[in-house]
Amino acid sequence: MFRITRSSMHRLLVTVCLLHLTTFIPRPALGNDNLRVAYQWNQIDFEFSSDTERQEALASGRYIPENVIPVGLEVYKKRLFLTLPRWKQGIPASLAYINLNETTTQSPRLYPYPNWSAHRRLSENDAQEIVSPFRIRADRCGRLWVLDTGVDELLGNTTVFAPTSLLVYDLTSDNLLRRYQFPSDHLKENSFYANIAVEDAVCDDTFAYAADLGSPGLVVYSWKQQESWRVKHHFFYPDPLAGNYNITGINFQWDDGLFGLALSKPQSDGFATLFFHPLSSLNEFSVSTKVLRNRTYALDTRNYKEFKVLGSRGPNGQAGVAFLDQKTGVIFYALPNLNAVTCWKTSNRALNFKSLGRVYMSSVEMVFPNDVKVDDESRLWVLSDRLHQYMYESLNRNDINFRVLTATVKDAIQNTACDTNIKPLPDIITNLGDILRPSTSTVAPKSGSSVALTLQSNRFITVLLATVITLLFSSNLITT
Ligand SMILES: *[C@@H]1O[C@H](CO)[C@@H](O)[C@H](O)[C@H]1NC(C)=O
Ligand SMILES: *[C@@H]1O[C@H](CO)[C@@H](O)[C@H](O)[C@H]1NC(C)=O
Ligand SMILES: *[C@@H]1O[C@H](CO)[C@@H](O)[C@H](O)[C@H]1NC(C)=O
Ligand SMILES: *[C@@H]1O[C@H](CO)[C@@H](O)[C@H](O)[C@H]1NC(C)=O
Ligand SMILES: *[C@@H]1O[C@H](CO)[C@@H](O)[C@H](O)[C@H]1NC(C)=O
Repeated sequence: MFRITRSSMHRLLVTVCLLHLTTFIPRPALGNDNLRVAYQWNQIDFEFSSDTERQEALASGRYIPENVIPVGLEVYKKRLFLTLPRWKQGIPASLAYINLNETTTQSPRLYPYPNWSAHRRLSENDAQEIVSPFRIRADRCGRLWVLDTGVDELLGNTTVFAPTSLLVYDLTSDNLLRRYQFPSDHLKENSFYANIAVEDAVCDDTFAYAADLGSPGLVVYSWKQQESWRVKHHFFYPDPLAGNYNITGINFQWDDGLFGLALSKPQSDGFATLFFHPLSSLNEFSVSTKVLRNRTYALDTRNYKEFKVLGSRGPNGQAGVAFLDQKTGVIFYALPNLNAVTCWKTSNRALNFKSLGRVYMSSVEMVFPNDVKVDDESRLWVLSDRLHQYMYESLNRNDINFRVLTATVKDAIQNTACDTNIKPLPDIITNLGDILRPSTSTVAPKSGSSVALTLQSNRFITVLLATVITLLFSSNLITT
């Protein structure tokens, strides 16, 4: 049996204090707020082929600047992609990118992807090649997966131009490799597919997962078989008690189901774990893709127990998009109700408010975080876009409305509960923390002087905790 020596005690106490500052403070635990704003826009503008073209688009209403809002984000090599869904009229291109090589401005104009013609209707009866995607995913095999809702003017005269489709582009040539239309039995009343995850461990045997938030379900698409199936489970449904949102004083209710999808790296059996959650829910769940990829088993209700409950993020912990960084095993969550991005180390035993780390929280820069990705250089990217204000009031063209924030994953999680350098503590210390931790049940995010107060009282608890542990050590009570 290993006995903790006095020499390692100092190190342990330092760790305890560190952990205390990161995990025991009322959630989300204080982090460094280490992201920086890389790009920001008052309004989105495009690189039209000429200035005349731009004037024509403005005059005809093909481009109405105040109606354009970025919702989904992806970074692949030197391009940063944004989706610009057709909520309203006047969206000239619903998928576009900026070139990260061009660093001359913080508010660059967007290039349509793959080009202007993919966003033009050839006639009254034709849909564009790309109608209105919400989220996209670039896989490690150099393909861009575009989940196109096919719906025009979601907040106005809603028209379904095309059934929900997967469009897959080759990111080297920008050619459309494949278009896959969801079969009609995937499209229920209220179906709305707004998020996608791609399991790309084997390029020619890739699986895509599309979340239906309106009629809770999960579509599994096999690249090799070129077919899909639609999985159902109770855990895909929203929690009726978690549908209230209050962001920057705008109060609204959403009852959205399955939304957040995050894939782990392949586990020992070769299959990934899919972490998932409904939008209007505080809970997180998981299931092995071994279950989902086997069509027979995925559609068999006897698979019920294969879906696991992992825990709750706590009050106001509704999460939109989530993304799992496969190198660290850390999931990043966009939490609109808290103006925050938080993280959770999936190797932790439990998901709860204590094990969430604060990555960035701000009622200015992080108002409605709407997409989160980690690129292949281990950089975290976050898009915040004030979506609720766009939907229920209106955006002010004099404000900075859209921001892309970034940092390396290492910097983003440093000194948070997700910091992979902090070793887990023996149980007895965790339990001591539970006993000594001040009541934190529904403490709202603090600002200004109240933060100082919280830190003061937490330092007192830290000292108390350290003293108790020292006493335990001197009486040789702690062994592991
Ligand atoms: C960015 O710059 C590099 C090196 O200058 C070049 O190889 C690459 O093609 C550029 N990428 C884009 C998207 O322009
Ligand atoms: C919907 O269409 C009608 C008739 O074309 C038009 O008068 C109305 O302004 C449109 N509504 C919106 C929100 O665009
Ligand atoms: C636009 O991109 C598509 C690929 O989706 C390609 O087939 C087409 O030739 C391109 N058009 C132009 C004008 O470059
Ligand atoms: C929403 O939050 C504001 C503070 O930002 C508060 O004054 C208001 O009472 C809240 N509204 C609801 C319905 O919870
Ligand atoms: C799929 O699951 C069924 C159980 O429903 C099992 O009998 C079958 O062997 C599985 N197929 C594969 C390829 O794993």
